[in-house]
Amino acid sequence: MPPTNRQVRLAARPSGLPRPADWEFTSEPVPAPGPGEFVVAVSHLSIDPAMRGWMNAGRSYIAPVEIGAVMRAGGIGRVTASEHPGFAVGDYVSGMFGVQEYATSDGRGVLKLDTSLAEPTTYLGVLGMPGLTAYFALLDTGKAKEGDTVVVSGAAGAVGSVAGQIAKIKGCRVIGIAGGPEKCRLLTEVFGFDAAIDYRLPHLRRTLRELAPQGVDVYFDNVGGEILDDVLTRLARGARVVICGAISQYNESEVRGPANYTMLLVARASMTGMLVFDYADRYPEAMAELAGWYRAGRLISRETVVTGSVEDFPETLLKLFEGANTGKLILAI
Ligand SMILES: NC(=O)c1ccc[n+]([C@@H]2O[C@H](COP(=O)([O-])OP(=O)(O)OC[C@H]3O[C@@H](n4cnc5c(N)ncnc54)[C@H](OP(=O)(O)O)[C@@H]3O)[C@@H](O)[C@H]2O)c1
Repeated sequence: MPPTNRQVRLAARPSGLPRPADWEFTSEPVPAPGPGEFVVAVSHLSIDPAMRGWMNAGRSYIAPVEIGAVMRAGGIGRVTASEHPGFAVGDYVSGMFGVQEYATSDGRGVLKLDTSLAEPTTYLGVLGMPGLTAYFALLDTGKAKEGDTVVVSGAAGAVGSVAGQIAKIKGCRVIGIAGGPEKCRLLTEVFGFDAAIDYRLPHLRRTLRELAPQGVDVYFDNVGGEILDDVLTRLARGARVVICGAISQYNESEVRGPANYTMLLVARASMTGMLVFDYADRYPEAMAELAGWYRAGRLISRETVVTGSVEDFPETLLKLFEGANTGKLILAI
């Protein structure tokens, strides 16, 4: 009997935080690969804030996940059967395999992993999409340069922790914003940030003024909302605000916009959205640099790995919105 492929499908479009009823668990036989295809046994799923947006209908940078479809997800795994000349049984690969145990692929968008450089899961974090996002958002969109004061929100997470570390490598002064004393300690003691602000405490604006008396040259925003408004009041002249994400707004039916946007005028600053997928043709250049820093021990990888099965996906996704993760949130299945 062929093995069974257990899957998680989108059953309904959520309003607010996703609920158990928004998901459906299904199973089907694992198909044999057709000509030019291979099958991957997925070992780890990437749990991403963007997943919440993919569940919504409406215009975005990517089509929504259809009701009834397997939930979109990045993942890593090993090839178990192949009719593809470029992929052999046993290869470690990463790709958009979906929330399921087995995925069939024609190889498009699938990368083979160099497991001699790093553990496979590192390719979901520092050496994967979050690392690439941090790299291009900070250096290309944010144009961070030596001597800049860089502020990163969501700083203890997958993207934020890499962004702050790259900013340090580039000679910036780096202030991270994260939730809770433990994450703030991690920022300064492990990731090497110069300072950290716990946004759960009052007086974020005042603390930022004390820590960045000359103002903020680059604000790398992962969270939006009130924190964005606070940082806008502290921009240095010519500052670059990078809108990488806005996790505080992903479960809101009415998105809160930046009330303090006129501070862009005062500071002659820019605010720019970025999407990592736009840089696909430059991934090799960034990967080479990220891998070099990683190999040299200048870039530290942190992961929060939840061990379970695909059925644990709905609950694991919620951990992002509770701030339960440090570094990259991964579900090992
Ligand atoms: N533009 C792109 O191409 C691109 C690509 C990848 C990711 N992103 C975005 O980058 C951001 C970070 O993604 P990630 O994968 O690295 O996730 P992550 O930072 O590892 O995890 C999410 C973190 O967000 C924080 N958070 C949750 N709710 C919050 C709230 N209401 N206010 C403030 N902080 C909150 C939590 O940390 P605390 O404990 O500190 O609250 C949580 O740990 C997301 O906005 C994501 O959508 C963008």
